[in-house]
Amino acid sequence: LFSVLFGRKWREGEPPLIKGWIPFVGKTLEFRKDSHQFLTKLQQQYGDVFTVLIAGKYMTFVMDPLLYPSVIKRGRQLDFHDFSDQAASVTFGYPAVRGGRFPGLSEQIQKLFRLLQGDSLDVLTFRMMGNLQVVLRRSLSIPEGAFPKDDWQAEDLYEFCYRVMFEATFLSIYGRPEQGAAHPGMNTLQENFRKFDSVFPLLIARVPIALLGQTKGIRQKLLSFFHPCRIGKWIDPCEFVQRRVHLFDQYDTLGDLDKAAHHFAILWASVGNTIPAAFWSLYHLLTHPEALAAVRQEIMGVVSQEEAESICTRDITLTREQLDRLIYLESALNESLRLSSASMNIRVVQEDFTLSLDAQRAVNLRKGDFIVLHPQSMHMDPDIYPQPRMYRFDRFVEAGREKTDFYKHSQKLHYYRMPFGSGSTQCPGRFFAVNELKQFICVVLLMFQLELPAGQEDARLDTSRAGLGILPPANHITLRYRPNSLQQPN
Ligand code: HEM
Repeated sequence: LFSVLFGRKWREGEPPLIKGWIPFVGKTLEFRKDSHQFLTKLQQQYGDVFTVLIAGKYMTFVMDPLLYPSVIKRGRQLDFHDFSDQAASVTFGYPAVRGGRFPGLSEQIQKLFRLLQGDSLDVLTFRMMGNLQVVLRRSLSIPEGAFPKDDWQAEDLYEFCYRVMFEATFLSIYGRPEQGAAHPGMNTLQENFRKFDSVFPLLIARVPIALLGQTKGIRQKLLSFFHPCRIGKWIDPCEFVQRRVHLFDQYDTLGDLDKAAHHFAILWASVGNTIPAAFWSLYHLLTHPEALAAVRQEIMGVVSQEEAESICTRDITLTREQLDRLIYLESALNESLRLSSASMNIRVVQEDFTLSLDAQRAVNLRKGDFIVLHPQSMHMDPDIYPQPRMYRFDRFVEAGREKTDFYKHSQKLHYYRMPFGSGSTQCPGRFFAVNELKQFICVVLLMFQLELPAGQEDARLDTSRAGLGILPPANHITLRYRPNSLQQPN
């Protein structure tokens, strides 16, 4: 209590301590306003490692990416899973998984993440390709096999990305409804999801749900969508979901709504970042003609002319091998992720200990403190990425291959791009995410002529969600589109 009211005292060997004037709040407001700018200033003043009081937590930031390995490798003393388990359970509404009530469940959940990779990834990717085409054709009101209308449609670009990625991902992961191609209630699910997502930063910051207006009722509706008796009727969910359903059924201590909450958490993980990532990837291409031309040419190198011309009415597939060949598109996606990602990597100090940073430096850390990596600062470092605010679609290509050597103070970096986190807590869906983003861009560019009408302001990042992944746009951008292939069928 004393330390909450009066703040704690710096001890010899600890990083510089910045705690502001207001107990508990500390530097929260400055951090939330613009975390990158705020931390850069502190780095200039205090050096590469410092501790800041933010929302009642002492957070030690390690700013120099050359020091990242010293944190990422200390899995035992710097753990994340207890923290994320607590935060996720409060946010999504299931009982914490760790801590004895559900023996083995946490390990099994982690094990099943491998079904988002390897051979299972090929299946997921194949499904996503089909679902993207189904959903996108529907957006032109084209019944399967019919010839498309040729008039232009206008839509908010973020809305376009939202509805397409949301539904296509949902169908790929959870399967089809009992009847028809579209789940009844998909629009309402999406609306409720957006309402929930808008208060997500507050929930994860442990603001009690009872203080957040309608949020509890909205979450209840979202959970009921995933009730086991509904999921059980969906046709052909992916193996990852099937195995999770089976796993949860082994635990009598998990109620139906607890299981539903686990399934809902996966929906959030799978679309929460992918949707804004799809927006920035498409937006940057549409605003950089040289990038668009290079990516289009690359896509035409992996699909046939006939496939490209018939995509408005006939499904095409892109194998993993074809997707892997799209290196300029991958670079363009990674560049968009670099510019829009603001996730923080948090670890919780498990015991008082001395963290050795490099041959010269070490700092004492206290049990319960957070150690934080802030990759956005690395992504915006001009030493690593010259002209860091500029979009360069080919930044991650060199001599026709993926470029992997990036330097800080002339030393090669082990970690230079971290939208998906790092080490033991790295996103298990990252390969699927990159594949589906590639597929999204391919299908959209093949299926449509697209343009952003002139006279619009540039898209800006909504920094209010800093720390939580890919930032959405702060302003409205209009997209105009119409079917690309206008040849009459014979
Ligand atoms: C966790 C980023 C897409 C599933 C994470 C984390 C990040 C992240 C930063 C936390 C890692 C850490 O704290 O170190 C992203 C981004 C995506 C994306 C930027 C898209 C552009 C996906 C997709 C899926 C997925 C498509 C699944 C289908 C998960 C899961 C976790 C996670 C299940 C929690 C892992 C755990 O509890 O250990 N993601 N993700 N993500 N992501 Fe992703």
